[in-house]
Amino acid sequence: MIMERLAAHTMRAAGPYLEKQLAPAKRRWLLPLRGDVLELGPGLGTNLPYLAQTQWTGLEPSAAMRDALRARGVPGSLLDGAAECIPLADASCDAVVATLVLCSVDDPRRVLAEIRRVLRPGGVFVYIEHVAAARAGLRAAQHLLRPVCSLIGCHPVRDTGQTIAQAGFACVEQEAYPVPGMAILPHIVGKASQT
Ligand SMILES: C[S@@+](CC[C@H](N)C(=O)[O-])C[C@H]1O[C@@H](n2cnc3c(N)ncnc32)[C@H](O)[C@@H]1O
Repeated sequence: MIMERLAAHTMRAAGPYLEKQLAPAKRRWLLPLRGDVLELGPGLGTNLPYLAQTQWTGLEPSAAMRDALRARGVPGSLLDGAAECIPLADASCDAVVATLVLCSVDDPRRVLAEIRRVLRPGGVFVYIEHVAAARAGLRAAQHLLRPVCSLIGCHPVRDTGQTIAQAGFACVEQEAYPVPGMAILPHIVGKASQT
């Protein structure tokens, strides 16, 4: 619970700058989504304005985040649970969204298998994540950051882009998304299609 509160506090502190930087990507990749959308780890609800035209469901394991979300008002169902075991039926979602979540989950491969299971044919997984740096020096610095990041449940050195590319989606459209001042946490944005 202390870690959950610390994570919520960190997001409140770092959120506004990052949100401003990620807004163009969210307008491009999240705003067009329609239908039944599952958001994994919605946190404090930064993506809700971009998903207003969808039938939104959130899956959030942190009680502190769920409380904060309920306080701001959620537009759909907010479920308690982890993305490694999504409590939804097979082929029940038109889209799954995860922003800055695969750095936090225990088992990214299992999460990706679950995402594929709940997506309908033609469904898409849209994501924004920070990933392991390609440059050796930066990657070494990321390793040094690990103990601090682990306090908020974040793994800074994951090859998440590669893990998504190898997860069995029919098509993955993915690009680097540099965030000014955050070279130590390279970001990627992308869309993986089920068929
Ligand atoms: C860095 S926050 C990002 C929140 C939000 N998506 C955003 O972009 O502002 C990571 C979120 O993932 C959630 N999370 C951690 N482990 C998870 C898991 N196994 N399944 C689903 N969500 C998880 C955390 O509780 C937190 O809300």
